[in-house]
Amino acid sequence: MMTIRGLSKHYDKLQVLDELDLDVYTGETLVILGRSGVGKSVLLKHIIGITKPDAGYIDIDGVRITDLSGPDLYKAILHMGMLFQGSALFDSMNLEENIAFYLAQHGNLETGKPYTTQQLEEFVEKALGMVGLQGVGKKMPSELSGGMRKRAALARLIVYRPSVVLYDEPTTGLDPITAMTINQLIVKTQQELKATSIVVTHDILSALYVGDRLALHKDGKIAYIAKPEEFLKIDDPVIAFLKKTISQDPRTFRAELQGELL
Ligand SMILES: Nc1ncnc2c1ncn2[C@@H]1O[C@H](COP(=O)(O)OP(=O)(O)O)[C@@H](O)[C@H]1O
Ligand SMILES: [Mg+2]
Repeated sequence: MMTIRGLSKHYDKLQVLDELDLDVYTGETLVILGRSGVGKSVLLKHIIGITKPDAGYIDIDGVRITDLSGPDLYKAILHMGMLFQGSALFDSMNLEENIAFYLAQHGNLETGKPYTTQQLEEFVEKALGMVGLQGVGKKMPSELSGGMRKRAALARLIVYRPSVVLYDEPTTGLDPITAMTINQLIVKTQQELKATSIVVTHDILSALYVGDRLALHKDGKIAYIAKPEEFLKIDDPVIAFLKKTISQDPRTFRAELQGELL
């Protein structure tokens, strides 16, 4: 369970987060929609503790992330993963090295023991398989398409089985079919890890495909939060606009598509 209360953050004269409240339930996929520049990425950065608020707090499973710093913060966020907008792979490492990086660095998070080379290879292979990239582990990030880089970044993230996964605009800049494979992977990752997931997007198709609940980030706050059916009924100009862009509700084909595109 994640509880955010009164979270405020300003940059110069800009009040980006204004006493924002939000609850995220364990194991759910919460989608945060909102216009560009409203502060969605800033909110995610607070959740993983790399940005500190002016006021308010974030509790994750009883741990007040916003109060932590240094090694304590580092330890707490080892159980969280964030898929950054630009994928953020290490360009000088091939995919296998990218994916093994955190595991090789930290070893087993529970026991603190380092992994053997063979164990690392097995983990990497499983992660590559999960995102549909088996056999390409020796490739460098620069040799991959945008969609493959996203998948590789996701493999690097899920290999250490985080309990909280944050996605910042996972489908932005991808063509519709590649975007749909990423949506499928988000669902698959949630099912495999049983992780609490937060997906920030302005893509309503993606939101409806992956989301258990949808939220609208507006005026520094979470203006609304509801299950998809109720969310679409909310009388708000942003939601009305988003609704207009849908020709088919992706929930109707989520079951059919599962496993097909990958
Ligand atoms: N480190 C920073 N310094 C100054 N302004 C920032 C910083 N990070 C974000 N902002 C500003 O905060 C606002 C919200 O940014 P962001 O969270 O990136 O929006 P989005 O909802 O598109 O993800 C923007 O106006 C952005 O310019
Ligand atoms: Mg952003």
